[in-house]
Amino acid sequence: MLTFIDQSRHHAAAAEIISGLNANPPLVSPRYLYDALGSHLFTALTELPEYYLTRAEHAIFREHGAQIAASTGLARTLVDLGAGDCAKAAQLIPHLQPQHYVAIDIAAGYVQKAAAGLAQRFPDMQVTAVAADFASGLHWPQSLQANRLLFFYPGSSIGNFSPAEARQFIRQLAHICHHSADGQGDLLIGVDLVKSKAQLEAAYDDALGVTACFNLNLLLHLNRLIDADFDVRQFRHRAIFNAEASRIEMSLVARTAQQVRWRGGERYFDEGEALLTEHSYKYQKEDFLALLQEAGFDAVQCWQDENQAFLVCHARSCDA
Ligand code: AVJ
Repeated sequence: MLTFIDQSRHHAAAAEIISGLNANPPLVSPRYLYDALGSHLFTALTELPEYYLTRAEHAIFREHGAQIAASTGLARTLVDLGAGDCAKAAQLIPHLQPQHYVAIDIAAGYVQKAAAGLAQRFPDMQVTAVAADFASGLHWPQSLQANRLLFFYPGSSIGNFSPAEARQFIRQLAHICHHSADGQGDLLIGVDLVKSKAQLEAAYDDALGVTACFNLNLLLHLNRLIDADFDVRQFRHRAIFNAEASRIEMSLVARTAQQVRWRGGERYFDEGEALLTEHSYKYQKEDFLALLQEAGFDAVQCWQDENQAFLVCHARSCDA
C-alpha cells in the first residue's frame, strides 16, 4: 500500500535562486541538482570507478546488515531522508523489517515511482512517499508519528550541510524523536571520511565526465525554474578539495565573459567566475561522533568499509 504526501513548495524556489545568483560570489543550493534528469545522473555517477562512496556504504550494509538491525532493533517506522531510488533502503529492509517505510525526497516523481516499486517488493510493509525539501526544515507529517522512529540518512548527504548546519539539522531529528510516542528514536547515518586530495578530487571530477553532466544539468533546471538563458556550453565543471574547510567545493566556471538573463533580472559573469553549486564536507570519525553528541544523539555502534573510506553510525537520541 502506497500513500503519497506532497509537501513541495515551488513558490519559494525562484526568489531563493535569484538572490543566490545575485550574491557575490554567486551560489545555488545543491538541491537544484536533482530534477528528474539530475536524479538519474546522480544514480549513474554512483557506478563510476572514482565515486567510491556508494560502493563503500553498500559494502558496509552488505557485510553488517544483520548487526546493524541487531543494534537498531526491529519493527519501526523507517524514515529515509533523501530516498532517491530507494536502493539503500531496499538493501536494509529485509534486515530491519520495518512496519512502515517513509521515503522523503525533493524529486517528487522520482521518489514516488521508486517507493511504488518498494511497496510491490515488500507487500506487507506500509509505504509512504513524501515530496519535500526537508533540508530547509523537516515538517513532520503528524499522521506518521505512531511508531518508534528510525531515521535513515545514508550516502553522506549530511555533507551538503556545514558542520554547524548539520548539528542543527540532526537536533531537529532528536526533537522529533523526543516528541514521538516512544520519547526516543534512532538514527542510522552514513558519512564520508577525509582522505587524500587526489582521491577526493577524482571522485568529484571523474574521467567520463558524468559528474560534470550532473553539475551542468543544474543550469538546465534553473532555465526552467526561473526562465533563465544559461548556455550550458559556456560553463565548465570544477571540483576542488579545500583541506582547511574539509570540503569539496563544486562549481560551474564561466568559460567566457557573458550576460545571463532570467525573469525579472540578469547578471554578468566574468570569464573564470565561479557559480558555487555544492559543498560536500568530509569528516574525521571522532569529529563526526562529537557532532552527533552535540546534536542530541549518542553513538551506539559504528561500522566502516575495509578501506576505511566511509563511516556508518547507529545513534540513539539522548534523553531530553
Ligand atoms: C548526494 C550529497 C552525498 O556529496 O558526494 C556527487 C552529491 N556531488 N557528486 C556527494 C554529489 C557530486 C553527493 N551527495
